[in-house]
Amino acid sequence: MIEIAIMGHGVVGSGVAEVIINNHESITEHAKEKIDIKYILDLRDFDDLLYSSKFIKDFNIILEDPSVKVVVETMGGVNPAYDFVKKCLLAGKSVVTSNKELVAAYGAELLKIAKEKNVNFLFEASVGGGIPILRPLNQCLAANEVYDIAGILNGTTNFILTKMIKEQMSFDDALAIAQKLGYAEKNPAADVEGFDTCRKICILAALAFGKHVYPDNVHTEGITKITLEDVEYAASEKYVIKLIGRAAKTDNGKVQVWVAPALIPGESQLSTVDDVFNGIIVWGNAIGEVMFYGKGAGKLPTASAVVADVIDCVKHLNSRKYLYWEDSDGNNLECYKSGSTAMYVRLKGENAKTVTEEFYKAPKYLSRENQPFDEIAFITEALTVGEHNDIIESIKARGTEVLGAIRVF
Ligand code: HSE
Repeated sequence: MIEIAIMGHGVVGSGVAEVIINNHESITEHAKEKIDIKYILDLRDFDDLLYSSKFIKDFNIILEDPSVKVVVETMGGVNPAYDFVKKCLLAGKSVVTSNKELVAAYGAELLKIAKEKNVNFLFEASVGGGIPILRPLNQCLAANEVYDIAGILNGTTNFILTKMIKEQMSFDDALAIAQKLGYAEKNPAADVEGFDTCRKICILAALAFGKHVYPDNVHTEGITKITLEDVEYAASEKYVIKLIGRAAKTDNGKVQVWVAPALIPGESQLSTVDDVFNGIIVWGNAIGEVMFYGKGAGKLPTASAVVADVIDCVKHLNSRKYLYWEDSDGNNLECYKSGSTAMYVRLKGENAKTVTEEFYKAPKYLSRENQPFDEIAFITEALTVGEHNDIIESIKARGTEVLGAIRVF
């Protein structure tokens, strides 16, 4: 029997306990060992559970118990998760986490410690919730030179955008439902401002391209400026708006990483990824294009990925799964402004059309119901993001209001 501890009994941690208890037979079969939860660390009291006796409040009990071989971290946030995880790894315990903030901030350092201590540090649930993506990227696609990854990586924002697109629901109402369903982060700004997507694309980029990508170095836009009007203009040409994280190799061997909303054409597979689902496309030089799809947030889908990692740790208690990337000083990154894209632009002002035709070669105009006489929306030719930014500043300088500027995928 292998004893484990779970740190954090929130949405994901309680899901992990539930899956381990309910699926114990099939888990034992896969792990070839019985997995028993010895401790659950949480500062709150949970007196009415079948497993209430397992709760502790002192982390040192876990750290100092040599019978605990695998520790699950589902507390979220960097503090105290970083300190606890580091101490567990240094003590020779394998660690499984769902904590994308922790991995995006300290992944390189924690992987190095795990390597030195010959233990495992696994975090499949940190990207894509229940979707198997890190293990396939690391193992099944190992024969490829991966050169591009793009995905819808945040269930909360995708849920909100789907409600706006399909039900014309307001942003705030949709967010309130996502919070109730347990999809949103404690502070939902992390979802809607794009930080959560940023952490996940940083993890994917580090794994695919071998060097840590720090979130602070990644251009990140959220969805708070997207309006129902933008959704309607986009729909008139069969586009849907999704929050995208992208990491692509550039010709000079660097990696360009960004997070921003984008108009997705109806023919792209990403356009059909709705609600809390995530979709991630990986391009490799042997496989071509492959897409991963599934529930990106929520208690049991995320617990599914965590428990699979626990099983993997139990099966590899005396050996390491090869999962590794180096630290980086940021020189591996290419500025997002050099990337080329068409842009959806929405302008307001009596001279909107005149300035549009001054700055863009062949704008493709869009329309919506009850469109005000002084508002226009259009899709531009492909330019670099830097060129788009300059044009938008020039348009503003002419006194025209820029109501929206969104990439076209
Ligand atoms: N808040 C995250 C999301 C949870 O909505 O995707 C899963 O990482």
